[in-house]
Amino acid sequence: MSISTTVPAPNSKMNSESNTKKVMLSAVTPSNTLTLGNYLGALKNWVGFYENYDCYFFSVDLHALTARQDPKALLDHTLRALANYLAAGIDPKKAKLFIQSHVRQHAELSWILTCHAYMGELSRMTQFKDKSSKQGQNIGCGIFSYPILMAADILLYQTDLVPVGEDQKQHVELTRDLALRMNHLYDTELFKIPEPFIAPVGARIMSLQNPLAKMSKSDTDPNASIFLTDSNDQIVKKFKKAVTDSGTEITDDPAKPGVKNLLTIQSAITKKPIAELVEGYRGKMYGHLKLETAEMVVAEIGPIRDKSNQILSEQTELMKILREAAQAASVQAELTTTKVREALGLLSPAR
Ligand code: TYM
Repeated sequence: MSISTTVPAPNSKMNSESNTKKVMLSAVTPSNTLTLGNYLGALKNWVGFYENYDCYFFSVDLHALTARQDPKALLDHTLRALANYLAAGIDPKKAKLFIQSHVRQHAELSWILTCHAYMGELSRMTQFKDKSSKQGQNIGCGIFSYPILMAADILLYQTDLVPVGEDQKQHVELTRDLALRMNHLYDTELFKIPEPFIAPVGARIMSLQNPLAKMSKSDTDPNASIFLTDSNDQIVKKFKKAVTDSGTEITDDPAKPGVKNLLTIQSAITKKPIAELVEGYRGKMYGHLKLETAEMVVAEIGPIRDKSNQILSEQTELMKILREAAQAASVQAELTTTKVREALGLLSPAR
């Protein structure tokens, strides 16, 4: 499978399916507030090249149910994620921004795909293996089958490109396998075969407290992750406490994962190569690197936090955007599910 590592060229080629632009789709699970990792690995890339695609960006509230959620917090996180997309620069007139559960076909296609997926392929998913090794027999069925719901999200819209961080690459590969299997089994092109887009820098931002682990929304150590709701002071304090090593020299060295992570964050924000950044730190101390990274992050995500708060304080407009986008998305989702129902011998209900 070819994985895009450069931003795909603007595309005027017509999509044979719908006679429109190519389709880009991505989503975030609102199990907590988004982190700097979500922003640099995913959201920033969507903003970078979404205008040339027909885009679907949503908040996957059904995915969040794989872990127990406080209902009020889930609602807040679902809306805040969408406010973050808008605040980061996505124009709702150019992209469909919606809530996954508002388009019922996601759950329907997920069931159909579940009946075509194998236990073996799901058991091999890294995220499932990680979680099952910690939770044993009490692991929820949702965690096992969650990549199928993600495949349904992607395949419903005949997606061409899925910009994600590195940890989701395996799920996009599974999506491709399921699409190829279904197309072959029913001898018709039910689904487009999507490609992942993994950014060359920033696709795996690490924890500030354990630079060998991914920065995660669910980390229990509040100093490990930068959240898009953090105040400027909190951001600076967290970077000051970032774990590095006992050395002093700022180099791009796998043996210095903490330093490498800070350089990666800077590179993902400024788009400068890491080698150029290292050059600028000659003779400087880790303290300089931490503070300057903090300042860059404040300048990058501070305005997104403030704008998101403003969007959330005027929810009528947000609700209108979500309602209209869900209606538009449902039309495309229904086209795909109708095609799938017909191929499988399921009678479509009269609507
Ligand atoms: P989620 O919510 O875990 O993450 C959302 C996006 O952020 C990326 N990401 C990171 N990138 C860099 N460094 C990190 N530390 C980091 N942590 C997370 C993820 O790779 C992802 O792109 N199952 C998905 C959500 C989903 C989805 C979809 C994505 C559901 N349906 C359809 C794309 C298409 C998830 O839980 O992502």
